[in-house]
Amino acid sequence: MGIGFYRSPQVPWATGGQGAVRYEAENAAISRGVAESNHARFSGTGFVNYDNAAGSYVQWTVNAAAAGAATLRLRYANGTTTGRPMDIAVNGTTAAAGVAFDGTGAWTTWQTRTLTVNLNAGTNTVRATATTAGGGPNVDYIEIQR
Ligand code: GCU
Ligand code: CA
Repeated sequence: MGIGFYRSPQVPWATGGQGAVRYEAENAAISRGVAESNHARFSGTGFVNYDNAAGSYVQWTVNAAAAGAATLRLRYANGTTTGRPMDIAVNGTTAAAGVAFDGTGAWTTWQTRTLTVNLNAGTNTVRATATTAGGGPNVDYIEIQR
């Protein structure tokens, strides 16, 4: 349209945004749970079915280009009417305790919960641990956005 655009040192161009990076649960480290694919509409090749026990967890390894806050989204399904709370730990420290993962209506109905976490530069662990005897919900993935 005949309009020229030019970079300028007077404009605070955003830097560092890498978009959302998805980490599938079925590719993560699983303690007392199993990768399954019998409930549709998951991402990747399946999801993790946590054992129905407190302490069952999935742990992802995520990378960050720089230290700082990031948005963490966790996609899950809970086909029961009982909550399946989990603690979310980053690098071994609880970042959010007892995060509610309430019923989604069906095991094929997936919802996303969003948290803010602080990451180190480089490699980080993110662990979602069930805190009640029901275990965790079925977990599809986490996404990290910053
Ligand atoms: C059912 C369902 C599983 C789920 C489990 C549970 O068995 O098929 O996907 O993990 O209930 O209650 O945890
Ligand atoms: Ca389960």
